[in-house]
Amino acid sequence: MNRGAAVEGRTVTVSIDGRPVEVEEGSTIREACVAAGVEVPTLCYLENLAPVNVCRVCVVELEGSRALVPSCSRKVEPGMQVRTDSPRVRQSRRMVLELLASATDLSAAGEEVHRWIEAYGAEPDRWGEPAPYTADAPTPGSAVTLEQPVKVDNPLYVRDYSRCILCYKCVEACGDQAQFTFAIAVAGRGFDAHISTEYDVKLPESACVYCGNCIGVCPTGALMFRSEYEMREAGTWDPQRQTVTDTICPYCGVGCTLELHVQDNRIVKVTSPLDREVTRGHLCVKGRFGFEFVQDRGSATP
Ligand code: SF4
Ligand code: SF4
Ligand code: FES
Repeated sequence: MNRGAAVEGRTVTVSIDGRPVEVEEGSTIREACVAAGVEVPTLCYLENLAPVNVCRVCVVELEGSRALVPSCSRKVEPGMQVRTDSPRVRQSRRMVLELLASATDLSAAGEEVHRWIEAYGAEPDRWGEPAPYTADAPTPGSAVTLEQPVKVDNPLYVRDYSRCILCYKCVEACGDQAQFTFAIAVAGRGFDAHISTEYDVKLPESACVYCGNCIGVCPTGALMFRSEYEMREAGTWDPQRQTVTDTICPYCGVGCTLELHVQDNRIVKVTSPLDREVTRGHLCVKGRFGFEFVQDRGSATP
């Protein structure tokens, strides 16, 4: 796990795009880039999870290394010469973004993902007209996508795997990085690889405890609060009109910080900041979803 890996007091100097940067020993190249003020795109990395190295959008060129290296997990070593913007790096990042965007619906991904697609000149359309997933050979000139029906099988959150880039973050958050429930895993191989409950059962029949930690880490909106999903469907979801207010979860003594996203005087979703020591962004079902009583105070019976 990356968090806490840096060794306080001992430092290493590396060169990032020709500029010397001093970081704590045990830091990653990505952290050295951040210290140098250089942005590195990431998709499968998140500061509250161990790096799984699956997306490769964060690669950099390292002098003396034959292959590009993933900056999110590779630790710094004294004297490393790192290039973050060489033609080889740009080409590699462009291909990753282009292939992901050609097969998956990234419309609900964060603003930064769209910025990177543009900055690296990714052109997902050049792979052809988006076509639904098929086990048969794709029609020439079409780009096979992961398009599939949205899974709406419980009152709390929906799963739209047309948007899934297989970053593994939800699997990690459900597993030994946070929740230890192991309700989901990656099943299948190649283009058939997908996030699945045990035997692909519906969520209410699975081991899921509805902590929503998978939603909290998903970078593309493949996992979404049902409230957000319904508002998007109705065309009323508007982040510009939303406020975010920090509060402490009222349910128990752990004291998790909740970020209440409020639109039109109603809580529309709940997140938790990644940098709080108490739970580092992870919550339980009560903190994540137990907000309806706030909305319906007038009509609630004790
Ligand atoms: S809600 Fe929690 S338990 Fe259920 S799949 Fe997501 S992380 Fe796992
Ligand atoms: S559902 Fe979201 S978090 Fe899980 S693998 Fe897909 S994109 Fe990543
Ligand atoms: S962010 Fe580094 S491999 Fe995905």
